[in-house]
Amino acid sequence: MNSDSILFTAADLDHWAETAGRLQPPARLAVIGDPVAHSLSPEMHNPGIQKLGIDAQYVRLHLKPEEFVTALPKLSALGFIGCNCTIPHKFMALEAVNEVHPAARRIGAVNTLIFRPDGTIYGRNSDAPGFLRAIREEMGREVRDLRVLVTGAGGGAGAAAATVCAMEGCRSLLLTNRTFEKAQQVAEGLRDLPSGPVTRAVPWTAESMTAALAETDLIVNCTSLGMNPGDPEIVPHAALEARHLVFDMVYKPLTPPLVAAARAAGAVAVNGIPMLLWQGVYAFEWWFGAEAPVAEMRRGLDEAIRSRMP
Ligand SMILES: NC(=O)c1ccc[n+]([C@@H]2O[C@H](COP(=O)([O-])OP(=O)(O)OC[C@H]3O[C@@H](n4cnc5c(N)ncnc54)[C@H](OP(=O)(O)O)[C@@H]3O)[C@@H](O)[C@H]2O)c1
Repeated sequence: MNSDSILFTAADLDHWAETAGRLQPPARLAVIGDPVAHSLSPEMHNPGIQKLGIDAQYVRLHLKPEEFVTALPKLSALGFIGCNCTIPHKFMALEAVNEVHPAARRIGAVNTLIFRPDGTIYGRNSDAPGFLRAIREEMGREVRDLRVLVTGAGGGAGAAAATVCAMEGCRSLLLTNRTFEKAQQVAEGLRDLPSGPVTRAVPWTAESMTAALAETDLIVNCTSLGMNPGDPEIVPHAALEARHLVFDMVYKPLTPPLVAAARAAGAVAVNGIPMLLWQGVYAFEWWFGAEAPVAEMRRGLDEAIRSRMP
């Protein structure tokens, strides 16, 4: 029985032998979200799990926010090794686990759950190292050497990107968000970081963003803008230059408008797929304590993209 098209729910956890008992290999890992049907994580992780000969498979689990906390001990009792949490569970997970890695605590979100043999759950954040690794692999640069502008800094991914850039000691950090107060709050929250960069919130106006781009090397888009046709520009495209680096967390479409505009200006620009891959690689290694078969995971992800995002 192949789980690729199956979506498990909270109710299934109470009748697991009937709902998932026929799965071979058995379901031992999951991505949990609401919605979660779109997630490419099973197609990325399962080839890696197979490559290592591990008797487990990774499935999708749809949990509503009110179902999340009560589902975790059930997953632990069912022998789950780990889970990834996506929208909207990353913040709740921080509070729901027994122990949180210090970096995840600082970032304020948990996207990786590790179920320990003693029944406790450990929470970590693989989005942050996945983001840094994607910049390194795709751009050959380290965030600490760059002046960074984060758009959407008030959202979950944006606050995480801003925090990890600050923790890395990037040269300077500008934060902007449609709801300006949220960018101000994130900037304020980073002030106590030892040797953190100069951090400033920038108003969500074309004029302010144009000025910000003049003192920016790396633009990190963490808004969901670009996913829908007709979305407004995130930063003024006319102010993009060939020296800019653009990392757009959006990957649907595969070439978001910001990436297209940056490339047209001669800049290096990548979508959110490499971050998706590397956050998965880190989670995999935390679950299995072994080097992740990156080539297999990348191939699985590429095939899923080709079949699901023509
Ligand atoms: N590639 C990856 O691995 C990866 C990982 C995580 C997230 N992502 C992507 O990153 C994006 C954000 O995710 P998230 O979890 O941070 O979501 P979120 O917490 O809901 O934050 C959404 C952000 O987008 C902004 N926004 C939404 N609509 C907007 C509009 N019309 N104009 C201006 N700003 C707007 C929000 O601003 P307000 O605060 O003003 O509402 C907020 O900053 C999504 O596209 C997600 O798919 C990718």
